[in-house]
Amino acid sequence: MSKKKVAILISGRGSNMEALIKACQDASFPASIELVISNKKEARGLEIAQSYGIHTQSVNRKNFPNDHEFDSKISAILKENNIEIICTAGYMKILTKEFVESWHNQIINIHPSLLPDYKGLNTHKRALDDGVQLAGCTTHIVESELDSGQILMQATVPVLKDDTEDALAKRILRMEHIIFPETLKRIATNEFRLNK
Ligand code: GAR
Repeated sequence: MSKKKVAILISGRGSNMEALIKACQDASFPASIELVISNKKEARGLEIAQSYGIHTQSVNRKNFPNDHEFDSKISAILKENNIEIICTAGYMKILTKEFVESWHNQIINIHPSLLPDYKGLNTHKRALDDGVQLAGCTTHIVESELDSGQILMQATVPVLKDDTEDALAKRILRMEHIIFPETLKRIATNEFRLNK
């Protein structure tokens, strides 16, 4: 079996990244993590990736005149490494339209809400403030409009009576760690019915 070559883009903690790395350690998993790139050199996820022996790189936006040139650099690194699938896992920077279009249907993201509800930031607080009874997470194809690409998988969790943002976030994160690897597996084996 030839494994699909994957890069993960992160900005921070890297717990979803670690869930993907762990899944890929299984010999029968159809993808391998070749590279982790962070836009923050202090991202804790970089150390975690290195502890698994994964090649890491950090690219600082401040060294580029604009987002377009920054994303072109990321794209060049991905191409040098023959990457076929990109996972954005807590990558807190919006990708340029050019980048997204040049990796059409090859970028998957995890988002901590039941999209299309609560795009953007502060998802858990907004869900709690609205008094919803169900919350959750979504994996989706990345398109240039924020958090709007084709939905691939979702998992729901109940919102509990005395929930805090933190408690809800933790409950959802456990589900993120399940659906993201499952989504990657299905992308790598071409199982989804993707929009053209
Ligand atoms: C995760 O909850 C992820 O869903 C969220 O950031 C967290 C990153 O945690 N992503 C977004 O909000 C993107 N819009 P992690 O670094 O431990 O995976």
